[in-house]
Amino acid sequence: MDKKIITVTSPLLPDLGEFNECLKEIWDSKWITNNGSFHKKLEAALCKYLKVSYISLFTNGTLPLITALQAMHITGEVITTPYSFVATTHALWWNGIKPVFVDIDPNTCDIDPNKIESAITPRTTAILPVHVYGKPCDTKSIQDIADKYGLKVLYDAAHAFGVEVNGESILKAGDMSTLSFHATKVFNTVEGGALVMHDEKTKKRIDYLKNFGFASETEVVAPGINSKMDEIRSAYGLLNLKLVDGAIASRKKFAEVYRKVLRNINGISFFDDMQGVKSNYSYFPIFIDAEKYGITRDELYLKMKEKKVWGRRYFYPLISNFSTYRGLESANPSNLPEATKIADCVICLPMHHLLSEEDVTRVLDCIIL
Ligand SMILES: Cc1ncc(COP(=O)(O)O)c(C=O)c1O
Repeated sequence: MDKKIITVTSPLLPDLGEFNECLKEIWDSKWITNNGSFHKKLEAALCKYLKVSYISLFTNGTLPLITALQAMHITGEVITTPYSFVATTHALWWNGIKPVFVDIDPNTCDIDPNKIESAITPRTTAILPVHVYGKPCDTKSIQDIADKYGLKVLYDAAHAFGVEVNGESILKAGDMSTLSFHATKVFNTVEGGALVMHDEKTKKRIDYLKNFGFASETEVVAPGINSKMDEIRSAYGLLNLKLVDGAIASRKKFAEVYRKVLRNINGISFFDDMQGVKSNYSYFPIFIDAEKYGITRDELYLKMKEKKVWGRRYFYPLISNFSTYRGLESANPSNLPEATKIADCVICLPMHHLLSEEDVTRVLDCIIL
């Protein structure tokens, strides 16, 4: 019998019966978007779950990045990482801001705070780090630098849903943080996202900006965008929120099996849990040292594919290698040796709540040479 494809991820889906009941309620109310009751309920439920005071829902995880930069009047140059999904840098480009790439710390894959200061110029106005794979950035060192130079900090926390450090939400760091609720993420609303802020005034301003800048029926206070989450996806999100802890627990179980086996394979490395960090197990990246392991990352990737196991070279290529950005001085690989090395040796293994023990064994069988 033909083996099924093991995909790198699989969406968390709400109970269809419960979702149908919500749809009936939405149909009956005829209120399908524009800050309806499910939207309000989801914002409140997320604040509680994520242990934050203010959140604003968006239609995806890219528009909150663009909107936050506008709200903070960020201009000039922003220091960021090349090791992320391309939307992080695109958000700068859409605001006419020059991205300045800084190398990563290979121990976390996050921006290396020790390399930030030398990239600061008189035009630098902010830092845009990413909690890559949900691994928390060194937020203290980043904030110290931001305070010293008077810079804003916007975290792209697309991967960091529910991540905590010493019992505190990672979303409390910096001036604001963005989340993505895309289908591939630990928590999804099909497409969706959010911006987390720390005060009511900012929340109000962001709510205006995601609704064309409307402050009242007749008043537009800024050139806002339309990025409102509708009632259908808000209801879907509320139902998924009930399931997310169970999904994270399954991910953790599979991560532990991967680690147990991979620990004995020469030339393969991976991340262990960080002390004091509540992880969401959103991704399981492995790093291949081709000399020690015997074959290259791409050879393993293709071998997996042949066996219907779909890994993902995430993040490869680096954002700084895409044609839009590679002309920038900071995009030169000589400026980004660690990110370049990691991008060339990483594969994210299948990681989602619907894996079975048999699936995990099939993945590992591809890796055991
Ligand atoms: C790090 C990072 N930032 C931003 C985004 C953009 O989110 P969305 O796809 O919801 O627009 C993603 C999505 O994959 C991401 O991984």
